[in-house]
Amino acid sequence: MNNPKDLIEKAEKFLQQQSEIYGEFSVDFKKQADQGSDKVIDTSSSDNENQKVKEPLSKYSTGSETDLVENTPKLSMSEKIAACSSLDELRALCEEAEELKTDLEGTNLVFGVGNPNADLMIVGEAPGFNEDKQGEPFVGKAGRLLDQIMDAIDFQRDEIYIANILKHRPPNNRDPKPEERERSLPFLLRQIELIDPKIILCVGRVSATTLLNKETSLSKIRQKSHSFHGRELMATYHPAALLRNPKWKRPTWEDVQKLRKRYDELGGK
Ligand code: URA
Ligand code: URA
Repeated sequence: MNNPKDLIEKAEKFLQQQSEIYGEFSVDFKKQADQGSDKVIDTSSSDNENQKVKEPLSKYSTGSETDLVENTPKLSMSEKIAACSSLDELRALCEEAEELKTDLEGTNLVFGVGNPNADLMIVGEAPGFNEDKQGEPFVGKAGRLLDQIMDAIDFQRDEIYIANILKHRPPNNRDPKPEERERSLPFLLRQIELIDPKIILCVGRVSATTLLNKETSLSKIRQKSHSFHGRELMATYHPAALLRNPKWKRPTWEDVQKLRKRYDELGGK
C-alpha cells in the first residue's frame, strides 16, 4: 500500500474531497508533484475560495502522516518559519531544527522568555552553561546583571521579552560563527515579527552587528537609534562585558536611559 502510485491516488482523492468542501481551485496537483516543487501551492488568485483552500493544503504538505510520497510538495524551512503564526508554533519548529544546533552535542533549545506582546525585546548573543541547563536566556551571572540594569530603568523581566541570536549553546561559549548566526537569523526574525516590539535592545557587538548586518564596533552602533524592519533598534554593552570591564558601566547606564526615553516616546506600554 506504500506504492507511490497508490499514494498519489490517495493524495488526489484527498484534494478532491478538499475541493468539494472548500470549492473549486486551480491547482494542478500532478504537475506540482512532477516538478518536485518545494513551494507552497499558490493558487495565484486572491479570491476568497482560493484563500480557504490554502490552509488544508499547507497542512497536508507538512504533516508527517500526510507526507505521502517522496515528491509530494514539501515546505522549505523558510516557508515553515513563515507559516508559524504563534510563538508556540515557532518554538515547536525550533525544537526540531538542526539548523539551530552548534557543534556542541546534547544542548537544550533556549528559545526566549518573557511577555509575548512586549514592546521591548532584548537580544543577546548565545546561551551559556546555565542557560543551556535551564532552557532560558540570561539566567546566570550576566543575566542577574541584566535584570538589575533593566530594573534601574523600571522594567521587570516579565514585562519584556528576551532572546539570543543563537538558540543553542556553542562549545566553550565561543563566539557564534558567521554561518551559525546566518542559520539562526530567519527564526529570530520571525520571533521578532510575532512579538512585534516597538524597540529592540541588542546587548553586545555580536547581537548588534548580526541584526544590523554590518561588521563594525559596538561603539559605532550604540548611542543612536537604528531603523530595523520598521522598528527601532538600539545597542549597548553586553552584561558579561560589564562584569569584566566595569568602565563600561557608565556608558551602559547612559544607553539604557536613552532606551527608556525612546520607549516612552514610542508609546511603549
Ligand atoms: N549571554 C548571552 O548573550 N545570552 C544569554 O542568554 C546568556 C549569556
Ligand atoms: N565589545 C563587545 O564585543 N561587546 C561588548 O559588550 C563590549 C565590547
